[in-house]
Amino acid sequence: MSVKDKVLELLDNSKGEYLSGEQIAEKLGCTRGAVWKAVKSLQDEGCAISAVTNKGYCMNVDSDIISLAGVKKYLEPQQQGLDIEVHKIVTSTNTVLRERANDGAAEGKVIISGEQSQGKGRLGRSFFSPSDSGLYMSILLRPDMTAADAVKITTAAAVSVAMAIEKYSELKPSIKWVNDIYINGRKICGILTEASLSMENGGVEYAVLGIGVNTYEPDGGFPDEIKDIAGAVFKNRQSDMRNKLAAEIINIFMRLYRSFGENSFYPEYRKRLLWVGERINIIKGSVITPAVMLGADENCRLHVRYDNGKEEYVSSGEISIRKV
Ligand code: BTN
Repeated sequence: MSVKDKVLELLDNSKGEYLSGEQIAEKLGCTRGAVWKAVKSLQDEGCAISAVTNKGYCMNVDSDIISLAGVKKYLEPQQQGLDIEVHKIVTSTNTVLRERANDGAAEGKVIISGEQSQGKGRLGRSFFSPSDSGLYMSILLRPDMTAADAVKITTAAAVSVAMAIEKYSELKPSIKWVNDIYINGRKICGILTEASLSMENGGVEYAVLGIGVNTYEPDGGFPDEIKDIAGAVFKNRQSDMRNKLAAEIINIFMRLYRSFGENSFYPEYRKRLLWVGERINIIKGSVITPAVMLGADENCRLHVRYDNGKEEYVSSGEISIRKV
């Protein structure tokens, strides 16, 4: 760990409390000058650290900086052994993790970032991933399942995000089929699972599960293209919230993933599903088909009834739905 990371960890663990440069230097076995340099660099990166003469340095109580130590603080003992990397910025956590997977990284490797320069969304779209307001993370899985079953990874992830938010707030997130999370009519999280298929048996060689949560409204708001759809989980910054959410998403998801055979995520998925019993439009490219949404089955297929009375189970693939 660099001096900077150690200073960050120390101040983060004593939020709201002043530590003198001398105290920090002594604890870390470095010079006061090195502490000052580290604090200056952290401040330049946007960390909310106050520096007061004769008192020292203090991290604001409501600061919310993603760090490895911060995430580990909230991980269950069973997940402490996971190999987690935390970055300030990457191109896309999915892209970086796919590189690691191709180099042989083990199941359970996690990449978390506070910003993405080339965040990827579903259907080839980009995913707006500004600094300081979102949580962007990817988990590497090497499941023994067919490509068709891989949709369960995505839906279990949606359940995990909803339950993590419920743990740390009074909010009631809903899931828009197949895996977008909504709060108060606004999309606050998107999930993109990218799978690499085995040439030998057509099964999944690995899957990279990518989750992007708009934790806070970004400075300057959301861009015009998404400002009518996107929303943020919280209005105000909450102390350590992105570390808490990242860890809890991992805790819940890994638990659900290890019991995939029992489909234990499904009742939790179904009860949060949006628009059941309501009229929707099914959108495939430029073709729009109206229907009534009846639910989703254990394989996460959308169950609909068309206006001619015919019922169908539709797989997610290239389809999305909108409320009429
Ligand atoms: C969507 O709603 O279209 C899916 C968005 C998925 C975004 C996440 S953020 C972390 C991971 N890395 C990416 O580049 N994309 C996913």
